[in-house]
Amino acid sequence: MGIETSCDDTGCAVLNEDGNILGESLHSQHLVHLKHGGIIPPIAQDMHRKNIEHVVNLAVERSGIKFEDLSAIATTVEPGLPMSLSIGMKYGKHLCRLYKKPFIPIHHMKAHALTARMYDKSIEYPFLVLLVSGGHCLLAIAENVDDFLLLGKSTDNAPGEIMDKIARRLKLRNLEEYATLSGGRAVELAASKADNSTQFNYVIPLLHHKNCNFSFSGLHNQISRMIEKEEKIYGVAPDEVIPTVYNMCAGFLLTITRHICHRVQRAMEFIQIKNLIPPERRVLVMSGGVACNNFIPKGIEIICKEYGYKLVRPPPKLCTDNGIMIAWNGVERWKSQIGIYSDFEHITVKKSNPIGNSMIEEIENANLSCEWVKLKDLKHTSAVRDGN
Ligand code: KG4
Ligand code: ZN
Repeated sequence: MGIETSCDDTGCAVLNEDGNILGESLHSQHLVHLKHGGIIPPIAQDMHRKNIEHVVNLAVERSGIKFEDLSAIATTVEPGLPMSLSIGMKYGKHLCRLYKKPFIPIHHMKAHALTARMYDKSIEYPFLVLLVSGGHCLLAIAENVDDFLLLGKSTDNAPGEIMDKIARRLKLRNLEEYATLSGGRAVELAASKADNSTQFNYVIPLLHHKNCNFSFSGLHNQISRMIEKEEKIYGVAPDEVIPTVYNMCAGFLLTITRHICHRVQRAMEFIQIKNLIPPERRVLVMSGGVACNNFIPKGIEIICKEYGYKLVRPPPKLCTDNGIMIAWNGVERWKSQIGIYSDFEHITVKKSNPIGNSMIEEIENANLSCEWVKLKDLKHTSAVRDGN
């Protein structure tokens, strides 16, 4: 069984050893936080506390098996909002004590990365993984269930976080069609209606930094200034949306895509030079909430083709936070008998914890110049994957 409460979703799932989902349940706080304009930790904690018992019972009931028959209970303990994490961890430990089960502490990002192996059984270690969400942005090589090599990470914000802020700043929520969408989905939908995605000029972040790190705060500033300027030009009322919003979002999403593609391309160059993944089975897994986006992966797919990678993107339900990914990480650990505790009282929650050993300095030292693959024929489409 897996329990997830690292941010604003209370999730639980029961899997068998083959990764078949026997029962699952998920309570999303998305609409509540949308109303507050962001996640307020004590509110998130209260809602986890209110819902955890019901969510867990529902998943177990749906699975048709009893608590007594579980092998172990896996629970997210890092990284995440400590107030949210603590609710899941306490409840997971409580069940372990009650039913005398081993406890499996889970790293949220490792779980995001490995879920693809449940969805596509042909994925073998080592593989490249791009995790893009509202709280994280990183590139890593998954070597096994526990060991990861960190190739790049965001030096400031996460892409989902920036899209959430910009959607709010653009007041997209005032348009009925966007009212209940996450910021990322709202930006994607607006971009799909553009007639000129190059109307606004954006500078691609970190163009001259020869590493695989990400940065989104400069892009946030660029678009914020543009919005201000357009609001003045058109004299828009406080609750009105600027008329050029579609083209502005399209350019914004295109620049985010270009930036992510650059970092992925350099990572693939580095992997090639250092022979870190065998050429005959190169896989790039893309996951996290922003992987629900349909436009960014079109660019990534072009890079993958160039370097001989298969792109695997789990379905949206598995990309965003859920209990299934935690249970699957528990299954992988159970099978390899790594990180399973019958004595677990000392385990605590952690706000942050790197996914693995950093290769960032080595990449910088390699001083790799890349001839950027051209992202031709990237079209915005209106089919938006359900990211929430
Ligand atoms: O992984 P997730 O559920 O939570 C964490 O941040 O860990 O991701 C949520 C993020 C939000 O920022 C949301 O705006 C973004 O994923 N998101 C999207 C899309 N759907 C959700 N971003 C871009 N395009 C989407 N279709
Ligand atoms: Zn997540």
